[in-house]
Amino acid sequence: MKPANSPVIRQKGFVIHPEFLDRAEQESLVEELRGILRVAPLVQPVTARGKPMSVRMSAAGDFGWISDRRGYRYEKQHPNGAAWPAIPASILKIWYKVDTCQHLPKRDPECCLINWYGEDAKMGLHQDRDEAAFDYPVVSISLGDEALFRMGNVERGGNTESIWLKSGDVVVMGGDARLAHHGVDRLRFGSSTLLPQGGRINLTLRMVT
Ligand code: SIN
Ligand code: FE2
Repeated sequence: MKPANSPVIRQKGFVIHPEFLDRAEQESLVEELRGILRVAPLVQPVTARGKPMSVRMSAAGDFGWISDRRGYRYEKQHPNGAAWPAIPASILKIWYKVDTCQHLPKRDPECCLINWYGEDAKMGLHQDRDEAAFDYPVVSISLGDEALFRMGNVERGGNTESIWLKSGDVVVMGGDARLAHHGVDRLRFGSSTLLPQGGRINLTLRMVT
């Protein structure tokens, strides 16, 4: 992990830590995620209208984020009925290392959402606002293929800025950026050798309650 005082990129209030995780750290994270996904397999969520999302999802922690015909929400169980696996210590370390809590009480994140992007997956501009509190940031960890990440505003519309997120990059969405719109336009499929079949994993650490 990069030292806490390493240079960061700031865009529209988003704080990007480039190459925060080295290759060995990325590889061991992927190994831990494989263990989690054996217990809590990736599912392709559908919107309330029944439209399948292009991203596949799972989670670790006290809560996972779910979308199905009943709408979207946080749930304490995987759709298969199993409790979500615990968030690995190595991931909690990243949460604390990017100084997520600052002046707030030290608290572990309650959800580590796991998003898997295949070749044509993307995520439209959205806000993360299904949580009950917005004082803690959302921390995003990118693994695998590069993704074009778009950053907007708290209000709908207005100008946006984009950055290619690479494997090992960590983004902190806090302060004014906590409720800012963001999304993923596309991948550079095959740009990373981390995941043998290609694709991208994005982890987002969230405080839910
Ligand atoms: C998300 O907004 O939940 C995911 C962002 C990303 O994949 O980088
Ligand atoms: Fe999001």
